[in-house]
Amino acid sequence: MKILVSEQIAVKGIEKLTQEGATVDVKPGMGRQELLDIIGAYDALIVRSNTKVNEELYQKASLLKVVGRAGNGVDNIDMEGATKRGIIVVNTPESNVVSACELTIGLLIASCRNIPRLYNRLQGSREWNRSGLKGMELQGKTVGIVGLGRIGSLVATRLKSFGMHIIAYDPYISDSRFKNLGVDKKEKLEDLMRECDILTIHTPKTEETYGMIGKEQFKAAKKGLRVVNCARAGLINEEALVEALKKKIVASVGLDVPEGEPEATSPLLDFDNVVVTPHAGADTVEAQNNVGITIAKEVVAALRGEMVPNAVNLPTLHHGELENVKTHLNLGETLGKLYYQLEKDAVEKVEILYRGEAAELETSVISLAILKGLFEPVLKEQVNYVNASFIAESRGVVVTESKESVVDNYLTLITIKVISKNKEFTISGTIFGKSEIRIVEINGYEFDVSPAPYMLIAENTDKPGVIGQLGTLFGVGKVNIATMQVGRKISDKRAMMVLTVDSEISKETLEFLSGVEGIIKVRFVKL
Ligand code: NAD
Ligand code: MLT
Repeated sequence: MKILVSEQIAVKGIEKLTQEGATVDVKPGMGRQELLDIIGAYDALIVRSNTKVNEELYQKASLLKVVGRAGNGVDNIDMEGATKRGIIVVNTPESNVVSACELTIGLLIASCRNIPRLYNRLQGSREWNRSGLKGMELQGKTVGIVGLGRIGSLVATRLKSFGMHIIAYDPYISDSRFKNLGVDKKEKLEDLMRECDILTIHTPKTEETYGMIGKEQFKAAKKGLRVVNCARAGLINEEALVEALKKKIVASVGLDVPEGEPEATSPLLDFDNVVVTPHAGADTVEAQNNVGITIAKEVVAALRGEMVPNAVNLPTLHHGELENVKTHLNLGETLGKLYYQLEKDAVEKVEILYRGEAAELETSVISLAILKGLFEPVLKEQVNYVNASFIAESRGVVVTESKESVVDNYLTLITIKVISKNKEFTISGTIFGKSEIRIVEINGYEFDVSPAPYMLIAENTDKPGVIGQLGTLFGVGKVNIATMQVGRKISDKRAMMVLTVDSEISKETLEFLSGVEGIIKVRFVKL
């Protein structure tokens, strides 16, 4: 595991990476060209918000498997480019939210009470002078929050204790969440703009949110509005904000994210009623330790091929869910791996049926494991959880999922039907106890097989002597059989044998086996 850290993260994070056996190069402040020159040697890159992870970088990053964003916002990372290449992007969305919220409150009070200017007069000019700098109390005022997610709701809770009235605009948050937080929901951004004395924005930077507070919104605002942006540059159009400051529509700004990062070029820096910090929302000892340790664990887990809860380009798994899902991921991947080892026809459609407990889980991620398993025998390590569904789509494979809450005989059951031009292939599997995977059906033949690294699967006519002959040939080929099961279709006079064996089976032995009278098809399967 060779990992490049291109921006400063906590020492504890670096220590964690090293403890896990990674070779780590920490190069904060390195130039773009140097980054492009060296990235080809690394399996993972850890960044904060300065490093642009884009096509130019991906093209040089032939070994790159994981991008770790030590923080939350991933607007500096080209997600589509990563997904296409199977590069997993992980972040730490929970680790710095308290710090970001606290800086928001800090900037809000600092700007409403002119703290930096008063400080400068006293400390800088040794001038005991409060004149012209009367502040505004928070109690009784209305704060308008745009984006009531993790940070927005922490801000709401804290500002309530100041005796403020809280209104918010977030069309993606349920009414009940608004109710639980004691926040008045505004259906339209304009309504919020009209009513609030203080505006604070906490959305991610997306196509929809970029510039969402602009000229029109400031037109609707109360004169003397206070503005805070501790989220991302560009959410509030800077030109419009400059104009609103000049026209005194906006009385003060608290800003952690001026445009131009990492250069100090924003025109807002010229206003002394703008209190500004250089993207320092997450710069506390606590947040940086949290972020550093979390990103180190996640990057290492992702490099080891484990599921990571905070993978941005994978379905989200909530805390605790990962453990439940893990065994089903193994089961799904195992079942998926069998198709191309048993059949040669190109897949056109994959129908996945989840029954019992499986139907209650986050099945989208299990389906990814099935697709990963399906394509692995053909594409080897080029396929992973991140690009599995992209690969299916680009090969024209249609994937459907259905669920049934009850199932006879099993607590949980996954059945995959693989449809090709000429046939249909089915395979089903379950889990016994906590984590024992079993294959219980292949193409209508029923078994109870514990999958093993080496297996032999043979279809034969159901008549005496076939199994005996196979046994003799295994002896000759020095192959030790560990277990054997036979599934039968009495009406078709056919049977399927599934054997687990202790070692690989040579091509010659397989050829001998396929020549045995009564053997219809025999395949060696590796899991
Ligand atoms: P979050 O995903 O938990 O919440 C974002 C909220 O915005 C969601 O509830 C979402 O529904 C809402 N939203 C999305 N589009 C919207 C729209 N068009 N209109 C209204 N609401 C919309 O994110 P978070 O963890 O609370 O982070 C919020 C912001 O803070 C992000 O931009 C993040 O990058 C930034 N951040 C900054 C710092 C810092 O150092 N300054 C630190 C951490 C996070
Ligand atoms: C984030 O998105 O987490 C913040 O911008 C903080 C950071 O990157 O340090």
